Amino acid sequence: MHSLQCILQVQKSLRWTPLASVPWLLLKHCRAHSSLPSTAGPSSERKEDEVWKDFRSRLTTGPTFQHFLSVSAPQEKPSPEAGAPPPYLTVDDLLGRQRKVYLETYGCQMNVSDTEIAWSILQKSGYLRTSNLQEADVILLVTCSIREKAEQTIWNRLHQLKALKTRRPRSRVPLKIGILGCMAERLKEEILNREKMVDLLAGPDAYRDLPRLLAVAESGQQAANVLLSLEETYADVLPVQMNPSATSAFVSVMRGCDNMCSYCIVPFTRGRERSRPITSILEEVRKLSEQVLQLIHERDNICKQIHLPAQSGSSRVLDAMRRGYSREAYVELVHHIRETIPGVSLSSDFIAGFCGETEEDHLQTVSLLREVQYNTGFLFAYSMRQKTRAYHRLKDDVPEEIKLRRLEELITVFREEASKVNKSYVGCNQLVLVEGVSKRSATDLCGRNDGNLRVVFPDVDMEDAADPRLTVRAQPGDYVLVKITAASSQTLRGHALCRTTLKGSSAHC
Ligand code: 5AD
Repeated sequence: MHSLQCILQVQKSLRWTPLASVPWLLLKHCRAHSSLPSTAGPSSERKEDEVWKDFRSRLTTGPTFQHFLSVSAPQEKPSPEAGAPPPYLTVDDLLGRQRKVYLETYGCQMNVSDTEIAWSILQKSGYLRTSNLQEADVILLVTCSIREKAEQTIWNRLHQLKALKTRRPRSRVPLKIGILGCMAERLKEEILNREKMVDLLAGPDAYRDLPRLLAVAESGQQAANVLLSLEETYADVLPVQMNPSATSAFVSVMRGCDNMCSYCIVPFTRGRERSRPITSILEEVRKLSEQVLQLIHERDNICKQIHLPAQSGSSRVLDAMRRGYSREAYVELVHHIRETIPGVSLSSDFIAGFCGETEEDHLQTVSLLREVQYNTGFLFAYSMRQKTRAYHRLKDDVPEEIKLRRLEELITVFREEASKVNKSYVGCNQLVLVEGVSKRSATDLCGRNDGNLRVVFPDVDMEDAADPRLTVRAQPGDYVLVKITAASSQTLRGHALCRTTLKGSSAHC
């Protein structure tokens, strides 16, 4: 039943092509097996003979069944948007030709992700995006079927859009309206029949087919692809975020659902559960991390400090800890971060005396501390915790006194290196975000510089940079320009030059 529905869907979009013979064949086949008496007379039989001949001749010259498959099951070709067009379309037909697409997302986070995928595919085909409904040449609704109300919202929206389509001046290209996602999948041609103004349907696994569906819609036909796939994860489609100033991004790692909760439509609209290949997930996360590093570099209001807990400098111990990286990979990351964000402060966590740690392993950690020169460090002696993998599988074999001796050595080396780095600030002006009165002295203020280092300075009257005639006392939340006069491994000390702002600051070294 399902495959028949799919074929009917394809037929809808292909009515005007030679491939229209495929469903015709299907119907003929059904008739031949029908137990109902035929009501057709001799003349209609002759007619049928002619049609049959015509069909056979077209079949020998026309596209093969394989053509039909490649059109109807785009997921079998990983990237049809980049491949050859089906026989009834030219490459040009598949291009967006600067037409403007307006995308509207309803429902869950998966639909947000689907919108990003659909847009990525259309953008590649030469479509432009618009956030102005009036400007749109194509309106696509990414829909939800989870509850009845969600669908009702879409029906209501379709009525509004219908009015927009009717009012559209003839001088413009006709407006095309498409239903994407779960509602397209659940209702299939019911939408096309009920809302004649809907030009295309694409189920959740058919977004690669959007350029073709739009090309068919362009010709005035309704187009649909609601085939579900067992494999489609859009692994090679890099989602394009709809809102460039969004404060968060989601990475989807799987599609579909196999749980079959008794009340839920999702397994039927989104199909079988499948996971995205791990390499494609990692690639997307890597790109997002890269963007985060760029932002830290570009924006003055983001503190330039990154916590990179190393735990150990020995690849052997890192392996025993199951950290998933080697010393070399860690060091490479540190270099990359330092190249992207010059002057970044790095902090880290280390564990001394983990199970099986040798003196050689320990020295590797010492050397990592020297090599990276962290600004801040959190160092601990290993303490076995029940329930952990180490508790069950490894031996806590480093004697307590050795753990403590190694910890002391790590602390000493960390402090030496941090002091060296921090001393390089002496003589510099640092912009400090005031946090409050210093814990150690009520006459001092304490705050943080751009590298999140603690800066302590006397709480005295100071000039206000915006108005030098004003004398002010800095308050928590104020920015103060501080001249650094001394540094230890933990703290910078100095004196206030003026109260200033993030924009007006002239911190330098
Ligand atoms: N023993 C010692 N240090 C530990 N940490 C976590 N578990 C242990 C343990 N069993 C440290 C790690 C981690 C930090 C929060 O605490 O360095 O990054």
